[in-house]
Parts: sequence; structure tokens; C-alpha cells
Amino acid sequence: MTNEHSDALREQAEIEQAIRNLFAPEDEGLRHALAAAQEAGLPAIQISPVQGKLLQVLATACNARKILEIGSLAGYSGIWLARALPPGGRLISLEISPKHAEIIRSSFAYAGVGDRTEVRVGKALDLLPQVAGEGPFDLIFIDADKQSYPSYLEWSLKLSRPGSIIVADNCVRHGRVLRVEEEQQDEDTAGLTTYNRLVSSDPRLVSLALAVDDGHTDGFAISVVKA
Ligand code: SAH
Ligand code: DHB
Ligand code: MG
Repeated sequence: MTNEHSDALREQAEIEQAIRNLFAPEDEGLRHALAAAQEAGLPAIQISPVQGKLLQVLATACNARKILEIGSLAGYSGIWLARALPPGGRLISLEISPKHAEIIRSSFAYAGVGDRTEVRVGKALDLLPQVAGEGPFDLIFIDADKQSYPSYLEWSLKLSRPGSIIVADNCVRHGRVLRVEEEQQDEDTAGLTTYNRLVSSDPRLVSLALAVDDGHTDGFAISVVKA
């Protein structure tokens, strides 16, 4: 690596850290959720603090009172989302693992958002038909099994209103999921690639993928439902 290149990388890392410290500091509730996840041996695949803050900015921008999360892990992203809700607002989190769900519920309670959150356990595709009667949702965050992302998008369009925001995690993946050419892909990669193709071309949506995790190697696809 040239010196210029490593200087640029160091500068980028410093900028990222400064933004994180100023705009997205973690409090005791978020740190507790991370510690509980680690203690239970869950993988550290939650969103970054800057992604959490971006979810709050988006939730606030669309006046979110009802938020749906698909794939919750240990509740880290759910805490960021729940904290963006106004009084009386509601977050429903769908999670397949009963073990995760227990950790999520206790992390939500510890973070002080137990009253406005609900964790439902099961395969998201089995739970979504029931959730449909409780919409429309102002913001939907997709972060569960990757091969189902195209189906989650279909459900999200049914469960949203004009102005709703649909966010999907892991839509950059080192650029692997942004190639449109047909090629050999595993099911996860194919699901994410299809998702990107669908949201980038759907006339009902205005969408953009942003590399916005720590290190900018992965990120969100953000879609706003048009009027
Ligand atoms: N959103 C979390 C990370 C989610 S990791 C955060 O940023 O903090 C993905 C989660 O999706 C895991 O907890 C996994 O158990 C769950 N999951 C996987 N397949 C699922 C399915 N079919 N339905 C619901 N949840 C699922
Ligand atoms: C991984 C990261 C994620 O954000 C996710 O939702 C699933 C898996 C990973 O790095 O393996
Ligand atoms: Mg993810």
C-alpha cells in the first residue's frame, strides 16, 4: 500500500470515529444489549451505531408511529428504532429464534423500551400475514434471512403507505450483491442481488443503497414509497 493510500484510510477512519462519537454514542442500554448477546454466544452481526442513528433519522423523517423489524438478533437495532418512536408508538420485531427472543425482550426492558415493543417468535413469512392487519407501518427494517428479501419486499409494499420507508441491511456486501450480470451465486447473495434489482427499478419506490456500516463494506438499501 502506498503512503498516500494509507494516509487516506487513516483519515477516513478518524472521520468515521468522530462522526460516531458526536452523532451516535452508545448508552448503557445499547451496550447492555451487546454484552448480553456476547454472553449468549450470538454472532456480533448487528448494525453499527451510525446505522442505528440513520434508522432514527429516517423514522423521524417519515413521522414513524408504527415500525416493523424483520430479524432482531439481540435487540440492538430494535433499541435504536424503538427510541425514535413518539409516545404511544409501537415497534413489532419478528424473530425466528426463541432463544434470541428472550434476550431481545430483556434487552428492550433494560433499555427502557419494553412498553412500546413487541417481539413475535416464528418464521417471518409465517408471521407476516397476521401482522398485515396491524399496518400500515411507517418504517420497515429488513434484516433476517437473505434469500427471503424479495418476499419481504413484497410484504413491505403491502404493509406500507405512501411516504413509508423500507430499509434493508446487507445490501452492499463488499459490492458482491450490486452486480447485475447473471453469475454463480449462493442463495443469500442471490436474494440480496435480486432485492437491489427490484428496489432500484420499482416505479413505486425511490431507492438508494448506501455503504454505511463501520468500514463502508456493507450497508443499507433505503426505499421511500412514492405517493
Ligand atoms: N437486526 C439485528 C440483526 C439481525 S441478524 C441488529 O442489527 O441488531 C438476523 C436475525 O434474523 C437473527 O436473529 C436470525 O435468527 C433472524 N432470522 C433468520 N431467519 C429468520 C426468519 N425466517 N424469520 C425471522 N427471523 C429470522
Ligand atoms: C452477517 C451480517 C448481517 O448484518 C446479517 O444480517 C447477517 C449476517 C454476517 O456478517 O455474516
Ligand atoms: Mg444485517
